[in-house]
Amino acid sequence: MSRLDPHSYADDAQPRTKSFDWKASVDFSTQVLHSEVTLRFVAPAPGGSLDLDTRALAVDAIVGPHGEALEHTLHPAEPILGSRLEINVPRGAESITIRYRTSPEASALQWLTPEQTLGKKHPHLFSQCQALHARSVVPCQDTPSIRQTFTASMDVPSSLRAVMGAAFVGRDVHDERAVERFEMPQPIPPYLFAFAVGDLASKDLSPRSRVWTEPAQLDAAAWELAHVEDHIRAAESLFGPYDWERFDLLVMPPSFPYGGMENPRLTFLTPSLLAGDRSLVNVVAHELAHSWTGNLVTNATAEHFWLNEGFTVFAERRILEAIDGAEMAALHAAIGYEKLLEAFVLLAREPELTKLRTHLTGVDPDHAFSVVPYEKGYLFLKTLEAAAGAEAFDKLLGTWLRRHRFGSATTEDFLALVEQEIPGLLAKVDANAWIDRPLLPASFWKPESARLAAVQKVAGRVPTKDESKAWSVTEWHLYLETMPKRSPIAVCQELDATYSLTTSKNPEVLVSWLILACSSGYAEVLPRVEEVLGQTGRMKYLKPLYRALDGRSETKQLARDLFARFRGRYHPIAQEVVRDLLK
Ligand code: BES
Ligand code: ZN
Repeated sequence: MSRLDPHSYADDAQPRTKSFDWKASVDFSTQVLHSEVTLRFVAPAPGGSLDLDTRALAVDAIVGPHGEALEHTLHPAEPILGSRLEINVPRGAESITIRYRTSPEASALQWLTPEQTLGKKHPHLFSQCQALHARSVVPCQDTPSIRQTFTASMDVPSSLRAVMGAAFVGRDVHDERAVERFEMPQPIPPYLFAFAVGDLASKDLSPRSRVWTEPAQLDAAAWELAHVEDHIRAAESLFGPYDWERFDLLVMPPSFPYGGMENPRLTFLTPSLLAGDRSLVNVVAHELAHSWTGNLVTNATAEHFWLNEGFTVFAERRILEAIDGAEMAALHAAIGYEKLLEAFVLLAREPELTKLRTHLTGVDPDHAFSVVPYEKGYLFLKTLEAAAGAEAFDKLLGTWLRRHRFGSATTEDFLALVEQEIPGLLAKVDANAWIDRPLLPASFWKPESARLAAVQKVAGRVPTKDESKAWSVTEWHLYLETMPKRSPIAVCQELDATYSLTTSKNPEVLVSWLILACSSGYAEVLPRVEEVLGQTGRMKYLKPLYRALDGRSETKQLARDLFARFRGRYHPIAQEVVRDLLK
């Protein structure tokens, strides 16, 4: 008897879920899902306890395969794990059925009133299950080491559409209500369970990809994402066939807490991507890349998160290189490196979190989240690639993806494969230092390029018009990231007067600028900061902006006032994280 994962009650001696059938009736008036789930096991139960993960669920009944009531205990909630639901499963049972309701405070769900949507007429609901939030929607073995297929049906107001990270099966309308049915043939870890309900319309982008969003921004979304098929083709030629049939995209309400979420068959994207210049499609490349790294080969627990994100950043920049060229990929790598150095400073008191392989017993993965697994993971893989040679490394990557296809993997699995395929490589790059020690080892791969060098030449001062005339938004973003976070007010004034950064339409450039300006005490930007904090729920922007305000005595109170004012607009996960940060 032992736990499979520090973040789940799932026990390796108990029945393992193979698939589930989920039904939910969506009640917008009470913000509750009235649900039923049947869990089907890999093998008939040996008889005895089954521990499931739940968070804030009300359990109404649990029955066995013949409809017989099953004894169960819903244990008191633990702060990170939630409540263990212990069920006495009879010997030989191949399934159990649980009737339950979600809470209006379900951590995975955000319920939006009509006023909080673009169209202002209809309510909206969406889920975000990574890291530990699937359990607030479905009682389940909520560990990525257990993959499951599922069927689902959602009963929604007939004026709305339901979409899921699954194959659409059908929609039946009965007056005021519609039932939408789905099926997920590919087994997934629970954190990839995903749906949204709202006034949604779609437009085809290619035979295997369409974009969904509120009608008012459908055209803008379709324009921004028009080239998605080029990305899929580039990715397939790098990593092998796309195994999930469809790659649809859902552009979310502004409160979506992430840039993107790789929900299988239906990637969720922040609307802040719709910059009108296609400059942020690296996020699409990233979520697409997860179709191989993360969704096909999944980290066994959150302690191996770098296997998901480090590999995906590596794959994202390979796709970017294929489409936009090596210079562009190098600029992105350099931005990533700057962000990694900032993260090391922020995590100075938690150096444990700067190891690739983390130890997270008693630590919430949403708290441990940082760019470290992304950018340190990326640098580790680039360092391995440089030491092995590109060809040998590509072969290794192919073997990794084939060996663990539709499975889960640990850091140790990866190290064992490297040692087996390219003996001596780990020692050559000092792999132990990467995996088990904080910060970066003494030597590592660094991006090099002409455009990168041109930006680095200007670092620390205001560029002349001539120096910056050929800069793309990516170069501006990098330049702002390389600026010292406390720069003289005169430098801020000159930058803004010459380049109108406060009115930038590109959110990466805008937010980098606002952070620099706030940290430097350049108060002219505060109205714009307030606007951004009120308009977006993307944590990548909220966290550093609130932190910058909190970091200066003149704006410390403002940070608290703005959070009190806007917090109701943010997703429960973002509320929690910002509250944590302002503590
Ligand atoms: N899977 C992540 C988002 C995530 C991570 C959600 C951990 C919950 C817990 C997603 O693939 C991601 O990394 N998104 C990035 C995209 C960026 C790296 C291009 C984001 O949201 O900014
Ligand atoms: Zn990712």
